[in-house]
Amino acid sequence: MPRYLVTGGAGFVGSHAVLALLDRGDEVVVLDNLTQGHRAAVPAGVTLVEADLGDSARVAEVFATWRFDAVLHFAALSIVGASMREPLHYISENVAHSLRLADAAIKAGCLRFVLSSTAALFGNPDRVPIDEECRIAPSNPYGDSKRMVEEGLAWASRIHGLRYAALRYFNAAGSDPAGRAGEDHDPETHLVPLAIDAALERRPALTVFGEDYATPDGTCIRDYVHVTDLAQAHIAALERIETHGSCRYNIGSGNGASVRDVIAAVERIGGRKVPHSIGPRRAGDPAVLVAASDRLRAETGWQPRHGSLDDIVRTAWAWREAHPQGYADRP
Ligand SMILES: NC(=O)c1ccc[n+]([C@@H]2O[C@H](COP(=O)([O-])OP(=O)(O)OC[C@H]3O[C@@H](n4cnc5c(N)ncnc54)[C@H](O)[C@@H]3O)[C@@H](O)[C@H]2O)c1
Repeated sequence: MPRYLVTGGAGFVGSHAVLALLDRGDEVVVLDNLTQGHRAAVPAGVTLVEADLGDSARVAEVFATWRFDAVLHFAALSIVGASMREPLHYISENVAHSLRLADAAIKAGCLRFVLSSTAALFGNPDRVPIDEECRIAPSNPYGDSKRMVEEGLAWASRIHGLRYAALRYFNAAGSDPAGRAGEDHDPETHLVPLAIDAALERRPALTVFGEDYATPDGTCIRDYVHVTDLAQAHIAALERIETHGSCRYNIGSGNGASVRDVIAAVERIGGRKVPHSIGPRRAGDPAVLVAASDRLRAETGWQPRHGSLDDIVRTAWAWREAHPQGYADRP
């Protein structure tokens, strides 16, 4: 039975990838320091190693205890605004942890690695939709930290034969359609859960950052990809690196939704108003970020199965409504 090490597997995207692997009958070990993740997000039967990636001795111990077919590396600091306040902390943590992890994997003979990368690599893109050939020009330390990790992995690929996939996610959203996992960040910075919680009166009114962009309704447009489709993209990428070697893919639904579209979808599906006010633009927010995922589709056969904004909002709403305190509701 294949066995995978999933770092950050107690977090949002990682926990959905763990479910996708378990659904195939694979064995999973999660390594997470639980700073953002939740013990209750790790399904029964999955070993949770509660450790920080900065603890090299613990990481080496993990590789000495189990033999892994691949590492899926989700664990990272990932709040763009925080990275603008603490650039060196973000860069040193994300880069050092990721490359030391890859080094430990290689030394243990595990030569398959999937990285959670990001659309933030492209900064203010030179064209939309954004394909893999677009200029890499991150506009914040978070995005740049992922660029540096991708470059480190490319060297490890050339020199050590590491086969890696760099998956540049656009906006992950939604939750497991069977209700087994959901999104629960603290602080929450993502639009879909913020809009839902505003509608459920669990947090103050939503602030819309600017309505004077050059978009049809004046608000920013983003590409929301269902987290379960994203999890399946990891399975597709694992198969691809096995047969064809290293790859880099942009992953989105290919559809743009504005902030107003998201608010309207939450109101339609939840049957409640989303209290909101209009605030100033946020520095550095591009007007439109939409992925071209044609390469992933063509090379792996991946297809989003929950691609519509309504599917995303319906599953996210169901999970948040069922779990008023997020994972704190669960044993
Ligand atoms: N959510 C998105 O829309 C999105 C978009 C683009 C890229 N990404 C990337 O995807 C990955 C997962 O994102 P997410 O939204 O699930 O984040 P998350 O914060 O929910 O999950 C990250 C997990 O990693 C753990 N972690 C963080 N630092 C660690 C460390 N030093 N040692 C051990 N564990 C540590 C946290 O406790 C958490 O469980 C991140 O690498 C992020 O940069 C996410």
